This record gives sequence, C-alpha cells and structure tokens, in this order.
Amino acid sequence: MNRTMMMALGAVVMLTSMASPTRAESPSQLYMLNCWGCHRPNGEGIAGTAPPLQGAADFLKVKGGRQYLIEVPGVSQSALNDTQVAEVMNWILRTFSKEQLPPDFKPYTGEEVKQLRAVKMLEITKTRDSLVAEMVAQKIRP
Ligand code: HEC
Repeated sequence: MNRTMMMALGAVVMLTSMASPTRAESPSQLYMLNCWGCHRPNGEGIAGTAPPLQGAADFLKVKGGRQYLIEVPGVSQSALNDTQVAEVMNWILRTFSKEQLPPDFKPYTGEEVKQLRAVKMLEITKTRDSLVAEMVAQKIRP
C-alpha cells in the first residue's frame, strides 16, 4: 500500500468513527432527527397531524399530564433511549413552552422515562381530550 492509499484509508476510518450512531447528540439534534417531521422546527405542529408543542408544559399542571407527555406513542415508541427521551422532553418544555413551565418543574430523568415507557397508553385521544378539558376547567387554558 502506498502512502496516498494509507492516508485515504486513515481518513475513511476517521470519518466512519465520527459518524458512529453512538455519538452523543444534543437535545435539539435529537428533536430534529426524531420529532421535527411532525412537530415542525419550532414546535408549531401540523394541523390534523401533530399538535403544537408550544404550551405542552400545561400538561404538567394537571393530574396524569406528566405521564401523558412520555406515554404518548410518538415519544414512548421513538428510537431514542430513555435518557435521550428525558433530555429531549426537558429541552422541548424549556424551549417551546418556557412561559407555561411551572417554577418548581422537576426535569424528567432516564429512570422516570423508563418506568413510564413500560406503561402502554390505550386510549390516546380520549386521554388527551380529558387532560385538555381539565386544563380548561382549571382555567389553565381558555
Ligand atoms: C408521526 C408523527 C409524530 C412524530 C414523529 C412525533 N410525534 Fe409527538 N405527537 C404526534 C401526535 C399525533 C400527537 C397527539 C397524540 C396522539 O394522537 O398520538 C403527539 C403528541 C405529542 C406530545 C403531547 C402534546 C399534546 O399536545 O398532546 C408531545 C410532548 C410529543 N408528541 C412529543 C414528541 C417527541 C419528543 C417526538 C420525537 C421523539 C415526537 N413527538 C414525535 C405525532 C408525532
């Protein structure tokens, strides 16, 4: 093998290791790769497809809402590991829903996500509707 080939091979090895899927992604990158397609760049959502994530922190204020945010299929069945789910959800709440975030918000941890993910939510729309109705009843949302 000549010198040029050696160098080229070295570059390939280096690039391959850089592109390894075990590389740590930032929460915003995790969002972009896994959630952005439905919830859009600024969490604005797509009418009829995915709800906006702006205001998602309102769910933390009603009973069952904290669990709902993780048990929802787009989250619990994502390709992300438990720690990544916790990171991306904390990021979403602080980025898209800063104004609604309760001052005593306790960030999700990988361990909490693991437990919530083990629960299969059966009636997603019904669960969401009753949580939103509860927000309205408590005047959290108009
Ligand atoms: C295929 C489209 C799709 C993808 C991809 C997706 N979601 Fe969703 N998401 C939805 C839909 C639809 C809902 C409403 C509940 C339901 O019907 O599942 C939802 C609900 C939510 C909610 C609750 C907010 C509310 O108002 O109900 C959160 C939080 C959320 N998604 C976060 C995420 C995150 C984080 C990811 C990426 C890991 C993600 N979603 C990926 C479609 C998607």
